[in-house]
Amino acid sequence: MRMIAPSLLSANFKNLQADIDMINRSSADWLHLDVMDGVFVPNISFGFPVLQHVAEICQKPLDVHLMIVQPEKFIKEVKALGAHIMNVHYEACRHLHRVVTEIHQAGMKAGVTLNPTTPVSVLEDIIADLDLVLLMSVNPGFGGQPFIENTYQKIARLKELIAKHNSHALIEVDGGVTLHNAQSLYDAGVDVLVSGSTVFKAQDPEAVIQEIRGE
Ligand code: DX5
Ligand code: ZN
Repeated sequence: MRMIAPSLLSANFKNLQADIDMINRSSADWLHLDVMDGVFVPNISFGFPVLQHVAEICQKPLDVHLMIVQPEKFIKEVKALGAHIMNVHYEACRHLHRVVTEIHQAGMKAGVTLNPTTPVSVLEDIIADLDLVLLMSVNPGFGGQPFIENTYQKIARLKELIAKHNSHALIEVDGGVTLHNAQSLYDAGVDVLVSGSTVFKAQDPEAVIQEIRGE
C-alpha cells in the first residue's frame, strides 16, 4: 500500500478551514493529528476541543498520534472524534496489551508508535494484535526535523517481525518525509507516510501529496 497522511501540525492555524478543505479535495488517505502534552514530548500542540472542530469538517479518516503520558485516559475522547486509528507510544504505556485491547473494544484500529531508539523487537509479543506500527523517524515533538536514516533498518526488521507473526499490521513512518525519500521509503515497505512540512509548506500542497505517492 502507498498511502499518505498529511500532518495537521504544519497547517496554518490561523485558517484551519482552508487547509482541511484542501485535504478533503486532495488524494490524501488519512489526516494525521499530533496531540502533545508537554510532558511526554517537549512541546504542546492542540487538544480535543480543537480536534472536535477539525473532525466535524474533515472527510478523511483520522489518524490520531498521541504523544502524551497515559494515553489510555483519552480513549473515549479519541473515539468521540470518530477516529479511524489511535496511535499510542510504546514508551508511554505501562500496560500496552491492556491499552491495545481497550482501543479495540472502543471500535478503533490500534497503532503502536516507537521512538527512534526503541527497537522493533519490543513488539514481539503484541505485533499479532496490532493494526499498525508507527515508526518515528525524528524525535517526536516538532515538525520540520531531518529524517533519521537508521529508520530504514528498523523498517526491514519490522517487516520481518510482521511476517514471522502473520500480523496484518501496516507500517507507518513519521518525521522528515520529503519528496527525496518518499519513494525509497515506500520501496522499503512502508504503507503509510506521514508528512507535515513537506505538504503544508508547499506552494501547491495537493500536487505534492500526489507527488509523494509517486502519481
Ligand atoms: C512530530 C510529529 C509529526 C510531524 C511531522 O512529532 O509526530 O507528525 O508533524 O512533521 P514533518 O513531516 O515536518 O517532519
Ligand atoms: Zn505524528
